[in-house]
Amino acid sequence: MTGPEEETVNGHDNGHIRKPSQEAFVDSNVAIAPNDPEEVPALLKRISLHGEAYLTENDELERTRILDSARALVYALETPREAMIRHCWSQSTLYAAIEIAVNLDLFTALSRDETPKSAAELALATGSNPGVLARILKHLTAMGVIKETGPDEYRRTGFSIAMQSPRYSDAYPCMTGCITAGVLALPAQLKATNYAPPVDSTACAFQRGFDTELHFFDLLKQHPQHAREFNNHMSAYHQGRPSWMDLGFYPVHTLVEVSPPVTADDVLLVDIGGGMGHDLVEFHRKWPDLSGRLIVQDLPAVVAQARELNLNPKIELMEYDFFEEQVIKGARAYYLHSVLHDWPDTSCRLILQHLVPALRKGYSKLLINENVIPSTNAYWETTSLDLIMMADFASTERTEAQWRALVESVDGLRIVKIWTARRGVESLIECEVF
Ligand SMILES: C[S@@+](CC[C@H](N)C(=O)[O-])C[C@H]1O[C@@H](n2cnc3c(N)ncnc32)[C@H](O)[C@@H]1O
Repeated sequence: MTGPEEETVNGHDNGHIRKPSQEAFVDSNVAIAPNDPEEVPALLKRISLHGEAYLTENDELERTRILDSARALVYALETPREAMIRHCWSQSTLYAAIEIAVNLDLFTALSRDETPKSAAELALATGSNPGVLARILKHLTAMGVIKETGPDEYRRTGFSIAMQSPRYSDAYPCMTGCITAGVLALPAQLKATNYAPPVDSTACAFQRGFDTELHFFDLLKQHPQHAREFNNHMSAYHQGRPSWMDLGFYPVHTLVEVSPPVTADDVLLVDIGGGMGHDLVEFHRKWPDLSGRLIVQDLPAVVAQARELNLNPKIELMEYDFFEEQVIKGARAYYLHSVLHDWPDTSCRLILQHLVPALRKGYSKLLINENVIPSTNAYWETTSLDLIMMADFASTERTEAQWRALVESVDGLRIVKIWTARRGVESLIECEVF
């Protein structure tokens, strides 16, 4: 058996051997025993309990509860060694394998119908090397992306069917093209800046990772393909979750229950930085009878891409830079979804200062649709996004205290109420001028 001395973690830190005080003696048994065995019985019970409710009621909330418990069960059951291998080997290779599949349009070839397809058939359909493709297919199977039906034979899954649509599959080239290198550069960037919170979005991990001096959105202007993928990703990532426009979240009807009433010529909602117009399309689908104009504002290239979609004529598209004075005055509501999280506080204040004069006192509302990080039990999607924000935008997902401090630092603006549906879903921060 190996003694504790031989198990010393012999760490290196950028070429420097760690000082003895930093060395830890690790018993191998810890690394190969489950992480948190005491939690396992309770988690199994919870899964079975929610499982029954889900099977009888097909309830979405129960589904997410099972998922949370199942993830917690994996973390409790797996050993530190297994967790380490999952983090270090499987995540990057899974991502690479899916991006290769997307580039080859493999998911379309596989998902056309129910019939299982051989690796050779799929190689022919995608014009790829059979040997390379066979290895990719095996990893996609091992990671639960597609189903194996026999030796070198595969069947489609819900995931592979969804990946036929660029709206979903563009997430992968998008992340490679303009996000992930910034995240991977975050450790070096923080080390180089002595772990100071990033505040300059033109000199953060993004510029280090992508070897550029440009701001994220300026890089997108130079790379229309990445911009297209990013806009598609934005239009798809929050699909299927509770939205503030759903009944029981925010009282949408109060937007028109106002005196004087909103007429067809008045502006009901301005979606600032609204990307491809997806939120207003959803709003119009869910509230078709509300009167008033619906306007999406974004940068010229994004508006041009949105025009290609031939949106419902009710949705007006407008080129607008939110670092300039808001041109639509006195709308019933202005809406910012996942916009302020892209910017550090100083830039957010500028955006809000350019907007506030357009709001009519006692009438206009500002609706900020963003994550409000809770003090405990933050959801992994939100914390992932927070680190992406730190790396690529020198910005942050904000806590309630940070939102209050930011909004109240803008003259004449205050928060009326923060509406929250459930964990991991953006809240609606209702603001007004006073
Ligand atoms: C993270 S995306 C959010 C898009 C959309 N609101 C959503 O939630 O899906 C941020 C949006 O801000 C837009 N944007 C960035 N800088 C802008 C500017 N200076 N003026 C107007 N829009 C801008 C981007 O083009 C992008 O569509």
